[in-house]
Amino acid sequence: MNGTSSTPSSTSSSFYTEFSPVHRKKRKSRAPKEREPLLAIVQRLREELGHDDWLSECQQILVESLAKASLATISEVICLGLGSPAASATARVQLAFLLAICENLNIDRAKVFLYDPVFTAEDMTLFAELQVQLLTENKDAAYVIDHPTLCFMPHCDLALYENIIRANWSKTRLPNLVLVANRLADYVESNPRHQLETKAPFLLNLAPTLQCHPFPASRPWPTAFNNTALQHAGGEDVYEIMISTDEFNARGALRWRVKNDEMTDKHGGTAWMEMQIEG
Ligand SMILES: C[S@@+](CC[C@H](N)C(=O)[O-])C[C@H]1O[C@@H](n2cnc3c(N)ncnc32)[C@H](O)[C@@H]1O
Repeated sequence: MNGTSSTPSSTSSSFYTEFSPVHRKKRKSRAPKEREPLLAIVQRLREELGHDDWLSECQQILVESLAKASLATISEVICLGLGSPAASATARVQLAFLLAICENLNIDRAKVFLYDPVFTAEDMTLFAELQVQLLTENKDAAYVIDHPTLCFMPHCDLALYENIIRANWSKTRLPNLVLVANRLADYVESNPRHQLETKAPFLLNLAPTLQCHPFPASRPWPTAFNNTALQHAGGEDVYEIMISTDEFNARGALRWRVKNDEMTDKHGGTAWMEMQIEG
């Protein structure tokens, strides 16, 4: 080093005090933290649900209500609108709940069918590991049900509920529809009637006749299971709103008789109004 250098001389100690070199530790390049496998997460959630009285209360509601309705032999599940377990904590815990109720009702996982358009490859691997089945066809929930089937549809859009009811609108099929889903009467109570007459006429007419057994609120998972209820057709009322197949007309329009509460009130007796819905 020569004298012309601007490097401070070793004698100017104050300089060194001010600018003492900092020795930075070299950052180790950390490998991204490995996520617990999805299967393990769902299995852990399944265990955790079992530690809470909430699950046994729901299971009791299911077992007792299904037995009363002669639906204890239910052996198949369709799960729609779950969301992606890989992407959503709500979907994971709803799936864990579904597995728990299937165990309790002795429903074989080979008879559990799921569909949601958002399922990812990781979700599909999980379902294969759990040995539950994927529905391959998107029917927008319009699946025809020929024997008692538990339809697990947590927080689905109104259109999906409408479609599954509509697809099974017959005296023989409707009693097969056992919903574990949002309480459908809530839609009727919170939407103007004229809107539902256009958007969801089948739901509008069925909802008030459903046997409804609400599940209690879950403290650890308040939003995943809010407004969830077991609902099934089968009360005498349902037969009053059914139409016979000969009421399908040639244009594919559907006519049915709707018990009209307003008219009943005005005339002091049961009045019937004929409605026509374009198919
Ligand atoms: C409001 S989200 C509910 C998701 C989740 N179950 C929850 O409670 O947060 C409605 C779900 O319905 C799904 N969905 C939309 N169309 C569908 C269809 N045709 N069949 C099945 N699921 C469908 C959506 O992808 C979405 O995951």
